[in-house]
Amino acid sequence: MPGHKLGKGIPTRLLKDLHLLDMTEIPGLDNLHFPHGVIKEAQDLAAKAFGADNTSFLVNGSTCGVHAAILGLCKPGDRLIVSRDCHKSVIGAMMLASVKPIYITPEYDSLFGVSSLMLSSTVEQAIKNNPDAIGVIVTRPNYYGLCSDIDSISEVVHSYNKVLIVDEAHGAHLKFSSRLPCCALDAGADVCIQSAHKTLPALTQGAYIHIKGNRVDVEKVNFMLQLIQTSSPSYVIMTFLDIARAIMENYGSELIENLLNEVNRFENMLNENTSFKIMSKHPLLSQHIDKTRLVVNVRNTGKTGFFIEKMLRDSFNVQVEMSDLYNIVCIATTADGRKEFDTLYSSLNEIDKQFKNPTEPTDINVKELLIPPQKVSPDKVMQCKGEKRKLTECVGKVSKGIITPYPPGIPVVCPGELITLEVVEYIINVIKAGGTVNGVTDNWEVTVLAH
Ligand SMILES: Cc1ncc(COP(=O)(O)O)c(C=O)c1O
Repeated sequence: MPGHKLGKGIPTRLLKDLHLLDMTEIPGLDNLHFPHGVIKEAQDLAAKAFGADNTSFLVNGSTCGVHAAILGLCKPGDRLIVSRDCHKSVIGAMMLASVKPIYITPEYDSLFGVSSLMLSSTVEQAIKNNPDAIGVIVTRPNYYGLCSDIDSISEVVHSYNKVLIVDEAHGAHLKFSSRLPCCALDAGADVCIQSAHKTLPALTQGAYIHIKGNRVDVEKVNFMLQLIQTSSPSYVIMTFLDIARAIMENYGSELIENLLNEVNRFENMLNENTSFKIMSKHPLLSQHIDKTRLVVNVRNTGKTGFFIEKMLRDSFNVQVEMSDLYNIVCIATTADGRKEFDTLYSSLNEIDKQFKNPTEPTDINVKELLIPPQKVSPDKVMQCKGEKRKLTECVGKVSKGIITPYPPGIPVVCPGELITLEVVEYIINVIKAGGTVNGVTDNWEVTVLAH
């Protein structure tokens, strides 16, 4: 990302004179916080294109959409069922809204070493155990393009009269092709937040929040957006949210068709000629993946995903989206063509020749992390005093901050949770292998609650 890939996905004439779009709320240009003119018109067109009843433009990414959704839905003290593979914006929102999380865990795939699908039975059990919960928030697709069965999750959530929020930050393109998993709004989600900038030809920070049906108070969500978004929203970002909608509405299906043909060709070449494993060929998960997300398992090389990412950048001038201990992840968008796929394929092919059949197998062993016990509720943590401690001295202490490998930004420890030995070992593994962990300083310090 961004999904326009250096402007390739946007007609050149629209990229010229961007500075002329950089305006403010002068007559005729409407106001994002009280839209009634051109912004309202553009938002209404987006609502129609994405299948929502109400759409608002976001200029601070999905992050502020997640914040507004949770602040708009919950009152202090409410409890929310939260899929643990959530982005840190969900944790931040619960702190701001004084909401208590009830975490549920998606399935785990040991081959790729990642969280996979959230089962509707897991959601149902959580609702049964916590009948007072106000609603459920799930991440779908996840960073690896895995799409849980949202139809059945939605059915379960609504059968208990709860609200379903879907963090669809990675799925703004799903609506525009029948060859991709369905989008959350079509499956009945009440609120859906999408980072247009990740998968559409939109600019960084451009995102949408869509609301459908009458379970959520649109006015309250919009009021929260007024509180948390800037009073000087970028007209450049907003214009490109409109342009991305127009491109996808008019040409999206054909563009995605072409893209998926390139993806298939790439995957087949990689599958036939290298020893890499690709997630969309996974025997159990292939039916549930957004195929525009290329997840390549690199364990065959005996190297980590971090190593292969660096090698692709340093030796082949290829920048992937992210890597982890086992995989590299690329976001393919309608801005990518044959040239980009061929470059990626030939680079991986070279790497495969160099490293396959390693004499020394990798000593990295990724296992599913348990959710650490919650000692202090996230909103209370904000009032507590913190102190910096060396990571290795933190076992048994309570974290003040969010500790998360970034990307993907999925927390391993949330504020108020106990730092366990398992977590410390995992963080050391990730950093030593070349990954970045937000919440741990360069000299291995973490902020914990002071006594
Ligand atoms: C699942 C998920 N949700 C929300 C976000 C936040 O999106 P944004 O960067 O548009 O604020 C991200 C960012 O990576 C994400 O991965």
